[in-house]
Amino acid sequence: MAKTVILQIKRQENPQAKARWEEFELAYRPGMNVISAMMEIAAKPVTRSGQSTTPIAYDSNCLEEVCGSCAMVINGRARMACSALVDKLDQPIKLEPLSKFPLVRDLQVDRSVLFENLKRVKAWVPVDGTYDLGAGPRVQPVEQEQAYPVSRCISCCCCMEACPQFNESTGFVGAATIAQVRLFNQHPTGKALKQERLQALMGDGGIQECGFAQNCVEVCPKDIPLTKAIADTGREVMKQAIKDFFRG
Ligand code: SF4
Ligand code: SF4
Ligand code: FES
Repeated sequence: MAKTVILQIKRQENPQAKARWEEFELAYRPGMNVISAMMEIAAKPVTRSGQSTTPIAYDSNCLEEVCGSCAMVINGRARMACSALVDKLDQPIKLEPLSKFPLVRDLQVDRSVLFENLKRVKAWVPVDGTYDLGAGPRVQPVEQEQAYPVSRCISCCCCMEACPQFNESTGFVGAATIAQVRLFNQHPTGKALKQERLQALMGDGGIQECGFAQNCVEVCPKDIPLTKAIADTGREVMKQAIKDFFRG
């Protein structure tokens, strides 16, 4: 009998609708990943029992683990569907949407909370005006090497999905945002906003919510040293809080 791939996919028409599971069986092809399986289902949306259904809604774009859009829960773990090879997954392959973000439909969720958090900490290099500002300060190779691992963040939100502290009751900003504070505070131009970024991480939902469980670093698809970034930023936040205290 020809080899097949079985997928169980959680479906939900809209945030108010009842969730249900559908099962699909596809012919196996070497090198298949979860997104290529989803594309096959979209081309022929028929369940394993032969019932016609609707194509599954999911996000994807780059198909090479760069855009960060295809994050979902695959066999119980938050990860990128485009780099999840079928050969390396236990079957049936179970696909669910990220559970900590508002559902849009099927495997699509709204991850705008991360972008709001990045705005809250001003995760950018400030460039004032559109006129020619001339050359920026030089970045030494050693500084580039320190910044590079953190700069690889693809805003996938896997670290937030896996984090026990990222939930409605804490309002925790999550590991990705803290790591971006570290990145931009080390940049020679970006550090102009260092104080504001550190102050944005104080108080409710800030860095003190992190329980250092390290789930984030385990799931990050770009191997970003998140726990180091959190520890380094935590020290900076503490120093800033002491300075603020003595300044009254
Ligand atoms: S170390 Fe733990 S609590 Fe802190 S951000 Fe990572 S997963 Fe969350
Ligand atoms: S830190 Fe890693 S897991 Fe978190 S959003 Fe960035 S790439 Fe994704
Ligand atoms: S499709 Fe871009 S990261 Fe998967």
